[in-house]
Amino acid sequence: MINYTEKIPNNVDLGRDRVLQRALEHWQPAYMGWWYDMGPNESHNFDVYLRTAVSVEPDGWAQFDYVKMPEYRWGIFLQPRDEKRLVNFGVHKGDPAWQEVPGEYRSTLRRVIVTQGDTEPASVEQQRMLGFSCPSMYDLRNIFQVNVEEGRHLWAMVYLLHRYFGRDGREEAEALLARRSGDADNPRILGAFNEPTPDWLAFYMFTFFTDRDGKFQLCALAESGFDPLARTCRFMLTEEAHHMFVGETGVGRIIQRTCEVMKENKVEDPSDVRALGVIDLQTIQKYLNFHYSVTLDLYGSDVSSNAANYYTSGLKGRFRETKLDDDHVLSEAQYPVFEVAGGRIAARDVPALTALNERLRDDYIDEIADGVGRWQRVIDNAGIPFRLTLPHKGFHRAIGNFAGHFISPAGEVLSEEAWKKHEFEWMPSPKDHAYVQSLMTGRVVEPGKFANWIAPPLRGINNKPLDFEYVRFN
Ligand SMILES: [Fe+2]
Ligand SMILES: [Fe+2]
Repeated sequence: MINYTEKIPNNVDLGRDRVLQRALEHWQPAYMGWWYDMGPNESHNFDVYLRTAVSVEPDGWAQFDYVKMPEYRWGIFLQPRDEKRLVNFGVHKGDPAWQEVPGEYRSTLRRVIVTQGDTEPASVEQQRMLGFSCPSMYDLRNIFQVNVEEGRHLWAMVYLLHRYFGRDGREEAEALLARRSGDADNPRILGAFNEPTPDWLAFYMFTFFTDRDGKFQLCALAESGFDPLARTCRFMLTEEAHHMFVGETGVGRIIQRTCEVMKENKVEDPSDVRALGVIDLQTIQKYLNFHYSVTLDLYGSDVSSNAANYYTSGLKGRFRETKLDDDHVLSEAQYPVFEVAGGRIAARDVPALTALNERLRDDYIDEIADGVGRWQRVIDNAGIPFRLTLPHKGFHRAIGNFAGHFISPAGEVLSEEAWKKHEFEWMPSPKDHAYVQSLMTGRVVEPGKFANWIAPPLRGINNKPLDFEYVRFN
């Protein structure tokens, strides 16, 4: 028997909800089994200085302390309810927000929740071996923080399935623990979540690019007319911010270290840079190209009747829906999408309703471009003449209008043969991967010490010093 209020911090009155308790009695042990199998490898006995969500108060929502990860208190939190909240877009615009699942949208909503939920354990699985090669104790603590919070995000989606979807919800919740990232027979639902995350550069790129896709999906779902989904996603966003911080500063610190070494030693050629044990900027650009392009695919087809249906039904809104100044119905509006026609890329206006995936992708790209600009400043400040660029959004795409086409990072339409000739100038080659892997030699665990290929961060976690003992290995 679980002591609910103690073990599972929550603001959903779990202590009195018998239906939810019964569902969790079955699921929670299965979740623990999954964590022991697929959570960070050989870490179960470590004491990790972690943040735990304990309330929804803006200034007191998180608690920091040493925790063994299997004893992490994965909780269930929803942003407090606003009694006056309405459905803010689509054909039901102006109705009170739904507190129960509307019968006609039941299976669609369940699919939306399952698809989001599936990404959470997937990323834990993708990252499970990285603890062996962490560049510092600070970074090790950060990856563990991301992992336990992705675990909590799974709980958040499972709460919705258990509480609102009855028996099929319970079955879906089980299935979320059964799929495995990269498994041939039972893979995770979305492509980017089946790619390996083999090294720390890939991890930081993943948290910068792919966790940010998570942010944009959560933002769109936080607008949902189904109020419990909106409130759940709203709270998840508070944790997501740290994941993207880990990614942006992680890549930034690698760039900074590379630039320092290049300047000190007056070298520019990638092989000279590598000889000094840091990651050349060319390889960083290739990783960027890869993670950016596979993440763009997560937004789905440029023109999508599903996306139109989600919107019209009031289930999934646009990024910052209620801040946008239009009719929130989109029956007349147009939006440009890009496609390959006659050997080149051309824009075509389509009904905005059908282009909502593309629009969310464009909102995402704007934010990505800002982050890449901040990385560029690190290079500029070092006085190194190298430009990081975002490839054209048609580059290396497997879903949507560009799938099956061979687009260069500059946006030229090429033949397959011509594209393949340049593939490893644009994407990490097996040799590039092997080089980065060669730097991942064992964990750096002395407090305050950092691997040669990455600069220390500006400050520690929760005002602790950089040489704080963020992880005790016991
Ligand atoms: Fe997440
Ligand atoms: Fe995340």
